[in-house]
Amino acid sequence: MMKLQDPDLFRNAALIDGQWLTRPEMDVNDPATGAVLGRLPDCTADETHAAIAAAERAMADWRARTHEQRADILMRWYHLMLENTEDLAQILTAEQGKPLSEARTEVAYGASFVRWFAEEARRINGKLIPSPVAGKKILALKEPVGVCAIITPWNFPIAMITRKVAPGLAAGCTMVVKPSDLTPYSALALAVLAERAGVPAGVLNILTGRPEAIGAALTGSPVVRKLSFTGSTRVGALLAGQCAPTLKRLSLELGGNAPFVVFDDADLEAAVEGAMVSKFRNGGQTCVCANRIMVQAGIHDAFAERLAARVDALQVGPGTETGVAIGPMINVAAIDKINAHVADALDKGATRLTRARNLPSNYADPVVLAGARPDMRLAGEETFGPVAPIFRFETEAEALALANGTPFGLAAYFYTRDMARAFRFGEALEFGIVGLNTGALSHEVSPFGGVKASGLGREGAQEGIEEYLETKAFHFGGL
Ligand code: SIN
Repeated sequence: MMKLQDPDLFRNAALIDGQWLTRPEMDVNDPATGAVLGRLPDCTADETHAAIAAAERAMADWRARTHEQRADILMRWYHLMLENTEDLAQILTAEQGKPLSEARTEVAYGASFVRWFAEEARRINGKLIPSPVAGKKILALKEPVGVCAIITPWNFPIAMITRKVAPGLAAGCTMVVKPSDLTPYSALALAVLAERAGVPAGVLNILTGRPEAIGAALTGSPVVRKLSFTGSTRVGALLAGQCAPTLKRLSLELGGNAPFVVFDDADLEAAVEGAMVSKFRNGGQTCVCANRIMVQAGIHDAFAERLAARVDALQVGPGTETGVAIGPMINVAAIDKINAHVADALDKGATRLTRARNLPSNYADPVVLAGARPDMRLAGEETFGPVAPIFRFETEAEALALANGTPFGLAAYFYTRDMARAFRFGEALEFGIVGLNTGALSHEVSPFGGVKASGLGREGAQEGIEEYLETKAFHFGGL
């Protein structure tokens, strides 16, 4: 049971135009226990249009505020998030399952985007362009894109909201947010704090419920000028198609299939540590998690043995228990996919290096598999769970072909101490984010996003606010 210091943060209601709408229609479950946490409205297409209309009305006042006024509100939101870390983490763990320590880290990570974009709000500069015509001046003005639709996933219920909403609000846009129906309470708690920070009614609307009706209304509306979505490539492509008739701006952070390459000259202990960080964050349910671990023959056995020992020591259990490193998986479909990938790999000749555990059916066994090959399902698809398949390779060229041999291009990692190889290999990787000798790539100051089937656009960093700005060329011919 959650014990919140401020129970008002846990809202059983959607938020439209500053009004909290209660209608107990859809259960939200705790993935650790299956218990019903609460019931929320299943918002309709009409309610979605009402939220869009509210966001459109709110736009005039919000965009007219000074950048400093918007920055001050965002900064208050940031401080409120930090002050309420414990409650936000409790809500996050209850609905998503990740260990409380990771939930606290996510609150800090999510808040870091709010602070970053509060700071960036004051640096939205246009430019003055010298004109080829005497006496004339050309200004490139930065203006907010307009009403934005934000659709977020269940794996980072706080950080994926703030990484999109904070730059939008900083730029002067207004928002209609659809959090995952599996994890809506974190978004609603953030909205309570945003209200307290001074975000006016209609500027931030949160719709709860099933995705189909809400998604179709958001993507079909000509008032919505931008969609930002994080989720699967399949759904991203579907939404992009739905947005095509109204030509919306798109930011799509989609699936990954991250390679994690360890060369013979790597620092072995650092590489094992990096693999643990990258692979097992959020129980492997992260778009940038290492999905394919590739190890050069000379270091392969030592790496595999050490990784297996570390994985065998991981504690699996409810996220609220001290010492737990991997909580429950989000749902039955996730467990089924993980089990199918492991079974397929074992059928095709992989060897299991870690102990078998007798876990309840909502938990996935953390596994290290040796002898992984490109014809296995886990080589071509994102497993999204605590499965670490090891591919053996001999040459750098072989590693590069394996690493790039995927339609996805979100994140890649590699470990080497050879400086020439570091640049050569890093530049040849066809991914939007590359980690050299590190397993952690997620910071508010760094551009986050992929190439190829991993999507469009960048979040975080200076690039993140550009996604919410249009450039107007203003030609000034004199008075
Ligand atoms: C994601 O899994 O989509 C986001 C992960 C991150 O921000 O590190």
